[in-house]
Amino acid sequence: MAISPLSLLVLAGLLGSSATEDLQKKVFVFPTASNNAAVFLKAPLRRPLTSFTVCLRSYTLLTRGYGLFSYATRRNYNEILLYKVNPNEYSLYLGGSTVSFNLPEKQGAESDWEHLCVSWDSATGLVELWVDDHLLPRVGLKKGYAINPEASIVLGQDQDSFGGGFDINQSLVGEISDVYMWDRVLSADEVNLVWNDHRVDNSLIDWRDLDYETRGYVVLHPPFFQATD
Ligand SMILES: *[C@@H]1O[C@H](CO)[C@@H](O)[C@H](O)[C@H]1NC(C)=O
Repeated sequence: MAISPLSLLVLAGLLGSSATEDLQKKVFVFPTASNNAAVFLKAPLRRPLTSFTVCLRSYTLLTRGYGLFSYATRRNYNEILLYKVNPNEYSLYLGGSTVSFNLPEKQGAESDWEHLCVSWDSATGLVELWVDDHLLPRVGLKKGYAINPEASIVLGQDQDSFGGGFDINQSLVGEISDVYMWDRVLSADEVNLVWNDHRVDNSLIDWRDLDYETRGYVVLHPPFFQATD
């Protein structure tokens, strides 16, 4: 059968071949609380995930809870959810279950960018949360689980439906940068590289080649911080 230009166009649309962009030295600013501002990310997920690592940087003065990275499927809106409960606590939801991490009190009171890497491995169920290159004590959940690859991935909100259901009181007011996802658990050396803004290859979500779409009031802006190297 001959392939018409139209069917190629439709095929390209189905494959989600939208343009990608290098966002190095850029940040997404979420300037106000809102129930519609969000960044939607596309990732080439093809099979169930039995391990992953997500890394990102964020900056906020919020003391209430907010969604940072929300990976919803049609069956489970909290398939993966990285949620900041309060300035000293993170929660990771996975396949509907959850674990919490209480952070050590920070030295000094100044707020600053916080770098996170969170990983999970189905074989052990262990979750590793790295905050500014510091590994918190590991905890576990959903041993043996596989994450559904048909996902809607959102930054700055918590999805309570597939691709929506945002709650203004769980929205990020602040900034996000350097978002990456891999389909494996990064080693300590790799986390250190990512923290130092070096590249670790073969990511599913790549800040330097990002397939994204913003909705609502989100501003892509240069950051005020300087590269450390
Ligand atoms: C958000 O929080 C405010 C203050 O607590 C409350 O009045 C409002 O009803 C909440 N909105 C939603 C959608 O939950």
